[in-house]
Amino acid sequence: MKFATRAIHAAQPSDPATGALVAPIYQTSTFEQHSPGVNLGFDYARTNNPTRQRLEQVLAELEGVSHCAVFASGLAAEHAVLQAFLRSGDHVVVPADVYGGTYRLLHRVFGGLALSITPVDTTNLAAVAAAITAGTRLVWLESPTNPRLLVSDIRAIADLAHAQGALVVVDNTFATPVFQQPFTLGADLVVHSVTKYLAGHSDLIQGAVLAHDAAVFEPVKFLQNAIGAVPAPLDCWLTLRGLKTLELRVQRHAENAGRIAAALAGHPAVRRVYYPGLADHPGHAVATRQMTGFGGMLSFELDGTVADVTAFITSRRFFILGESLGGVKSLICHPARMTHASIPAGQRTAAGLSDTLVRLSPGIEHAQDLIDDLLEGLPDVGTGRRLANHHAGAVSSEAGSRC
Ligand SMILES: Cc1ncc(COP(=O)(O)O)c(C=O)c1O
Repeated sequence: MKFATRAIHAAQPSDPATGALVAPIYQTSTFEQHSPGVNLGFDYARTNNPTRQRLEQVLAELEGVSHCAVFASGLAAEHAVLQAFLRSGDHVVVPADVYGGTYRLLHRVFGGLALSITPVDTTNLAAVAAAITAGTRLVWLESPTNPRLLVSDIRAIADLAHAQGALVVVDNTFATPVFQQPFTLGADLVVHSVTKYLAGHSDLIQGAVLAHDAAVFEPVKFLQNAIGAVPAPLDCWLTLRGLKTLELRVQRHAENAGRIAAALAGHPAVRRVYYPGLADHPGHAVATRQMTGFGGMLSFELDGTVADVTAFITSRRFFILGESLGGVKSLICHPARMTHASIPAGQRTAAGLSDTLVRLSPGIEHAQDLIDDLLEGLPDVGTGRRLANHHAGAVSSEAGSRC
């Protein structure tokens, strides 16, 4: 069964009780028991719920594995993975420009474990090989990365990690299973911020962990119930609805991103565009090999000041200034003060994350409207128009939001 057919049919029979084509929302906390411990497979909705179970089955089908646990957010999903596998003093390899929330989890939530954390440019295989040792427990990968869309060779890194007995976790949020199937490339676990493309409509927060191997999955499944950061049935139902159009949506997102990248590249007010579909992107060759599309996200460096960035991102018509990505409505953000504000300024700069980097999440509007909206704002950059604000200089690690 092809992906688009699986998204509609796999694990989604009509409701056996009523024939309803669409699975109902089981909005209940508790299930009746015939006698203590004897029930129809469900007892309490933190442990399991039919709507949630249906979503887990569909997501597993789409990533091509047997096991999935969904969580109340992407970070809750990541938390479960870290909690399941990391013990005091363990060594973890992470991308140098890992998503800020993952960085914060490792450093501030798991800080008490005295982990040894090696940030590495995961696009550089020699650097990854040098970073992974016999003591490495987890190798965390994001590909493409947020926000520079750096692409790592998942298969090569999985081979390096497995040779040292480490597990490989791939955050597949940006690529989605439509464009990238990490388990076919050697991943042991996949995590998602379902909030983004999978749900796709900017109307819920949710996460998922997937695994191929039952023994790898078991501790994550245990923590889903034991910690209890589970999503509500309505949110699971909304994601099930979103998944039916996932392939159509991400194809349009990617088409829009590609057209915008081409329109921005070479513009005098743009220093650099990051999109894996551009032939001069450093990850273009690997992306062409391991992905079936280049994804819907892109970012670019404005050739201006932080004040220019502020003026630009606050005056777009169709790109709404906001956290998050992957929804049908276009979003724009300033990673240094928003998504990546949790990473200390020095470390951000060392990881190549410039203070004038702007991230775009094109929606599924018409590409020309989006391009016109962006190009209209660019001539103002660097020509002296400045919005009065106190962020005219570099961005400190204290600035910005904390999501
Ligand atoms: C790549 C990536 N992973 C994980 C997360 C965390 O997901 P959530 O916001 O659903 O907790 C995000 C959120 O922006 C993200 O961009």
